[in-house]
Order: sequence, then C-alpha cells, then structure tokens
Amino acid sequence: MAGNSNQWNNNTAFLLAATGSAVGLGNIWGFPYKAGENGGGLFVLLYIFFVITLGFPVFMAEVFIGKKGKSNPVSSVENLAKASNSSKGWSIIGYGGILASLIIAGYYAVIAGFVINYGFISAGGVDVGAAEAIYTSEKANFWEMTMWFSIFLFGSGFVVANGIDKGIDKAMRVLLPMLFVLVFAMVGYGAYAGDFSKGLEYLFSWKAEDGITAGMIQGAIGQAFFSLSIGMGTLMAFGAYMPNDQKVSKASGVVVTADTGVAILAGLAIFPLAFGIYGAQWSPDAGGDTLVFVTLTEAFARLGDLGQFVGPLFFFLLAVAAFSSMISILEPSVAFVTEKLTRNPTKNTRKIATLIIMAICFALSLISVAGHNVWADKSLGTLENPFEMMKYFADDFLLLLVGAGMSIFVGWRLQNVVNSDDMGITNKGFMNLWVFVLKFISPIFLLGIWVLGNLDRIFEISFF
Ligand code: PHE
Repeated sequence: MAGNSNQWNNNTAFLLAATGSAVGLGNIWGFPYKAGENGGGLFVLLYIFFVITLGFPVFMAEVFIGKKGKSNPVSSVENLAKASNSSKGWSIIGYGGILASLIIAGYYAVIAGFVINYGFISAGGVDVGAAEAIYTSEKANFWEMTMWFSIFLFGSGFVVANGIDKGIDKAMRVLLPMLFVLVFAMVGYGAYAGDFSKGLEYLFSWKAEDGITAGMIQGAIGQAFFSLSIGMGTLMAFGAYMPNDQKVSKASGVVVTADTGVAILAGLAIFPLAFGIYGAQWSPDAGGDTLVFVTLTEAFARLGDLGQFVGPLFFFLLAVAAFSSMISILEPSVAFVTEKLTRNPTKNTRKIATLIIMAICFALSLISVAGHNVWADKSLGTLENPFEMMKYFADDFLLLLVGAGMSIFVGWRLQNVVNSDDMGITNKGFMNLWVFVLKFISPIFLLGIWVLGNLDRIFEISFF
C-alpha cells in the first residue's frame, strides 16, 4: 500500500507533474510584466542565459536529491546527509524550501483568485476606459478577494489530499493538454489580431543604450528560478516519486525546455495583442505588475463583443496554469506533515496533513489580501506592503538561498552519491561540468546577487 502511494505509477507522471508545476503564473503573468518593466529584449536574453547556465544545473540537483533521498524534502536531505557522512544540519535546505513553499502558496492563491474573478469580469463585458477603476475597486475589497482565493486554495487542496496518482497525476493529465492548446490559441490570436512583428521585435531586440543593472540580474535569476519551480522542495518531492530507471537529466531537460517555451509563447501572445490595440508607441513598462489585470483587461474591452470571449479564454488559461502549479506548491509541505503524522502513511493521514497545511496557507493568504487593502500602507524599505514582502521574502530571498544550498550540498557533499546512471549523463565531460557549476558557479553567483539585491531592495544601497 505505502509502496504504491510512494511512486508515480508510470514514466510520464514526473514529466507532467513537473511541467504542470513549472508552467504557471510565473510564465504567463510574471514573465511578460517583468520583461516589460525591464525593457524587453535584454531581459529576455538574460533570462534565457540564466535558465541554461544556472537554472538547468540546479534544477537537476534538486530532482537528484529527491530521487536519491526518496522522501519529503526534509527527510530526503537528511537521508543523503547520512549516506555521505554529513551533518544532519543540511536539512535546513529542506526546511527553507518548505517555508518558501508556504509563503508562496499564501500569495499565489491570492493572485490566482484575482484571475478567476477577472474571468467573470471580462465575460460580463468591461467598458472602454474602466479597467483601471475596476482593478482599484477589486483590490480594495477584502472579503471578495478572500472568497476568490479560498475557492482556489481549497480546490487545489482537494487534489493534493487525494494523493499522487489519484490526485496529482490524474489532474495533470487533464490540465496540461488544456494548457498547451490554450497557449497556442492565444499566440495564434495575437498573431492574427495584433501587431506580431512589433511584439517579436520588443521581445528579442535591444537598443545599444540599454544597460545591465544588479536589480535586473537579480530579477532575471529570481524569475528563472521561480518559473522553473526551483528552491522550494517541489522538485525534490516530485523527484522522490520517480521510478528508478527514469533519468534525471533527460526529464529535467524536457521540463526546462517546456517551461521556457511557454514563457516566451506567453510573451508572444500578450505583446502583439497589446501593441496591436494600443499602437506601436505603447510602452509596456507603464503598468508594471498590472499588465494582465489592467492593460490586458482594457485591451479586451476595446475588442468589443469579441473581448467577452477572448478575455475569459485568456483568464481561463491563466487559471489552469496556476492551478497545476498550486498543487505542486502544496506537495512538499503536505508530504512532510504526512510523514510526521505517521511513519506509515495511510490515506487519512494525508488528508489530515492537507487540512493542516490549508489552515496555514489560509492565514498567510489573509495577510497577503490585507496587503492590498487594510494593510496596504505597511511598508519595509522599497517593499510597499505585506503582499510585496511575502513575495520578496520567498522568491528573491529564500529561493536563491535554498538554490545555493542545494548546489553546495550536491556539489561538495554528495560526490560519492552522484552517479551517471541516475543522472543519465554518460559523457564524463558533461558530468564534470555539471558538478563544477554546482560547486563554484551557482553558489558564488546566487549568493553574490542575493547580497547585492537585498542591500538594494531592503536597505536601498546599490552599487550598479
Ligand atoms: N513555477 C511556478 C510558476 O511559474 C510557481 C512555482 C514556484 C511552483 C515554485 C512550484 C514551486 O508559476
């Protein structure tokens, strides 16, 4: 019984679950607005560069820890620490990941709640010029926001409570195909109705005067890690259910490629449409993180009746992507609590564990809702409110630390555990390169940018 529920029962399950996890609000809501805030082409290039050089190697490290550790993120790290005569203290990586996952769950559900709400708003029709005011009034409504995020949170909790095969795998098999069809449909619509060449140019070219700043680098790395679901235990938890003969490198390659592909496709759906409707002079950085909720809602309004169809379709796509990610955000902590409740997990312990995690996430989501209204003026450094603080503390603070910790752990402590068979890397040169990146490149880079970014965002001290 326990054996069955501790492993995916087929070889595609990991691929589906990890892709469903990776492709989420980060790709369709986050990537386009961050690209827009940072001027387009250069940010996109940096993003792709960091996905390949740091994201992919650290992604493999995290999956590897799960696959070899075969347990929840904390116990997986503990098991491997023991196997390599290392201190039990390394489990702080697992705890850090779980902490990050809870905070992310807390704010992620709130954005996803907005998405569901906006599906209905755009279906009902929006007057031209009204999008900004709608957003302001939706944000101000504590109870309405609470209702929307609760639907989303408890819906994903329901899937997770049902276990990995009957819950997660089954849901992913429906959600992922839907997601890909919708993404391509939106790109097709953007190409047909929008200014495709302007969108393409915006995403892939940059002007000589564009400079690189520390904030931009931190933003690109943070975005790459967040989008790939690195650093909060999800990949460890999903990796733990991998069949023995599945290879880490191949599986990781598929997921990383799919995730990056969807981020770019989301850009190719959104920017052509917006340029087409607002004109080639439109500047994407104006709206910041309201790109989807204000700029696009206004764009759908200007499409007239058609907008009442295209708008809800877009928000439905976003909701599907967010839902499959939310499931994966809950898994590390649910797996952890399930194991803590009993040494021999049964169906019910997982349900109780999910309820406990739901309660914690609900409380955190309330704080993040309050950040939009009742506590909107409680700031810290450049972080404007508790919602921004949670987002920052999880995405830019914890994920980078956990990412660096996993690199160091695998690169320096697991030398005797790492093997080309589990990894599926037969070429010795590639294997050495991977370990070299984990030992030196990713820790130095991640910790360096962590220090610079924190000085900049919390203490407002910047060097470049
Ligand atoms: N990668 C997801 C997204 O892009 C979010 C996520 C982060 C999911 C970390 C799981 C773990 O939206």
